[in-house]
Amino acid sequence: MPALENAERLSRVIQRIRSLPTLPSVYVKVQEAMRTPEASAAQIAQLIESDQALASKVLRLVNSSYFGLPRKITSLRQAVVLLGFNAVRNALLALSVVHVFGKGSKEDFDRAEFWKHALGTAATARFLASKLHQGSEEEAYAAGILHDIGKIVLDQYLHSQFMACLEFSRMEGLSLFEAERRLLGITHCDVGEYLGEQWGLPPKLIEGIALHHRPRILRSEPKLVAIVCVADTLVRQMAIGHSGNFGPTDFVPQALEELGIGEEEALSLIPILRATFDAQEEMFQLFE
Ligand SMILES: [Fe+2]
Ligand SMILES: [Fe+2]
Repeated sequence: MPALENAERLSRVIQRIRSLPTLPSVYVKVQEAMRTPEASAAQIAQLIESDQALASKVLRLVNSSYFGLPRKITSLRQAVVLLGFNAVRNALLALSVVHVFGKGSKEDFDRAEFWKHALGTAATARFLASKLHQGSEEEAYAAGILHDIGKIVLDQYLHSQFMACLEFSRMEGLSLFEAERRLLGITHCDVGEYLGEQWGLPPKLIEGIALHHRPRILRSEPKLVAIVCVADTLVRQMAIGHSGNFGPTDFVPQALEELGIGEEEALSLIPILRATFDAQEEMFQLFE
């Protein structure tokens, strides 16, 4: 589809979305503070503590087995010092995004299943980044959480059209991406990219959102895009959660190639990933 036509369709859809959801102000403030060179762990901790509910969730998350820290962390300042700015910011991003979009009120698109898919993809992406020594683990985690966020926007603001896409995907066995492209003319990737820009997310993450179904369109972050793409496929093969995609669960060859692994090697990771997920049940519960 020509880029211009795509852009026109997107703007028509976006116009119907009067006010896009915003991220909690704490996250925005933390993001801004971290951009300044003089940001300190104490300052970041203080900002997060201004939202007590979020602060206690961040502490529980960093103390979960997911982070595998040898001792219990009792203060946010300690968390920032030990894990670093990026890890804390991404934990906050994950919690904020799930908080903003929550469970939703519509029953025909199960948000709990959706978040399981997103968190599963995030954890898998982080695992792949570490195992294959490709890029930042924290960026992989954040990109995994956010990769399908456009679906939530479509569900919330263009509900009946989005439901038609799910049904089309289910009936025809097409990927949801393809069903959206055919029925709406735009996809959850386009909408997610737009939302990411509105939120001022780092360009790398926006690319992970925008291109995870088209890793062959390579821009500046081919590794991150490939990691999200492979993680998404693995999570779908393991049937962890469900994001409304009824299409095939085949690997995208270009994504594997980009990471320098074959299909067999990717499949061999499944038992390890399963064991990790079992150990991380408590982390999933934090997002419920
Ligand atoms: Fe997707
Ligand atoms: Fe996905």
